[in-house]
Amino acid sequence: MKKFLLLSLTACACIALAQTAAPGWAYGYLVPFSPADIAPKCADEKPISCARPSAPVADDGVLLSQPGSPNQFTFAQIAADYAPADWYPGDHPPMPDIVAHGREKDGVRACGLCHYPNGKGKMENGGVAGLTPGYFLKQLDDFRNGLRKSADPRKANTNEMAAIARALTPAESKAAADYFASLKFTHWVKVIESTTAPKVKPALNGLFVPIAGAGTEPLGQRIMEVPENPEATDKFRNPRSPFLAYVPVGSLKAGEALVTTGGGGKTVKCGACHGADLKGVGDVPGIAGRSPSYTMRQLWDMQQGTRNGPGAKMMKSVVAKLSVDDMIAITAWVSSREP
Ligand code: HEC
Ligand code: HEC
Repeated sequence: MKKFLLLSLTACACIALAQTAAPGWAYGYLVPFSPADIAPKCADEKPISCARPSAPVADDGVLLSQPGSPNQFTFAQIAADYAPADWYPGDHPPMPDIVAHGREKDGVRACGLCHYPNGKGKMENGGVAGLTPGYFLKQLDDFRNGLRKSADPRKANTNEMAAIARALTPAESKAAADYFASLKFTHWVKVIESTTAPKVKPALNGLFVPIAGAGTEPLGQRIMEVPENPEATDKFRNPRSPFLAYVPVGSLKAGEALVTTGGGGKTVKCGACHGADLKGVGDVPGIAGRSPSYTMRQLWDMQQGTRNGPGAKMMKSVVAKLSVDDMIAITAWVSSREP
């Protein structure tokens, strides 16, 4: 019975998505949602069971390097679920065990695998560096309590994140929150107004990888965020390797107007809560200079009501009347600001 209910809820979500031209690109998809592509149902209590299956990587023993790193890793070691590569240990304090290793016996993958040891994260998950412990722990509560889900039913890694939140002990949550709060989030996405963007292929979890030699295509009304060095990000998971975001021409100016004036009642001035420089105030998080894919997803999820925790309710009147184009403009501007 419970299973049936879940399925019909998901089916309703697909209809809603189809009707409102959801920004699937912010979730890592180039094609509209089709029911055949729903994220796997988390099979058991282990968060890793929520992930899309991928072929295991055999360890070929070949040690690889990255510029400025004192360490070498094999390809298999780079993406090891319970001990991912830490290329630059000098860039951060010692990691708590849950961040460096997760908890293997229970299928809890290391936070550092997805969010990187420096907490800067990637477009398909998000930056957690510099968030206050208060905000961070509230998000874990929302994930745990089913108040923070992806509006796009394909996004398996958000399901895994929620399962991780359910699996964490209070001590692990606190250790992770304190660790990531101690790190500074620095700007590493360059926002570029453009009519075109590189042709990309979607990687497994929502990273767009430019196709070598394939050139560009019209951008249209999207934001296309890509690694500046596809190999460094996709293959080596180098947490110093930055991103580029192509945004529609004119979106920065339009976004600045909406963010700073509220657009005559269309939205609410962001600075009123996030601080004039959008760097955050108390437990209201900083939103400046973060991944535009991440930011766009949050605005869309909040408008769809799939991110609906007590804190997110404060964003209700902010997002209620925004069109996708408004959200694109706001996201472009906010992402271009210094965090
Ligand atoms: C399999 C990948 C994965 C792992 C491992 C992972 N996360 Fe996440 N995390 C995500 C994704 C995906 C999101 C963002 C979902 C979205 O787009 O809204 C996220 C978001 C978050 C957020 C919310 C950030 C914000 O700005 O609101 C927090 C906090 C967080 N993760 C903490 C953790 C902690 C703590 C761990 C380790 C115990 C962890 N994550 C491990 C994928 C992961
Ligand atoms: C009335 C206060 C208020 C205003 C105005 C407001 N926000 Fe927020 N915003 C919040 C709060 C509180 C949160 C934290 C939500 C939570 O705890 O889940 C938040 C969260 C967010 C997040 C998610 C951050 C993350 O790390 O996941 C984004 C993105 C965001 N706001 C963007 C905006 C933008 C853009 C504007 C202006 C157009 C804006 N906000 C205006 C209160 C506000």
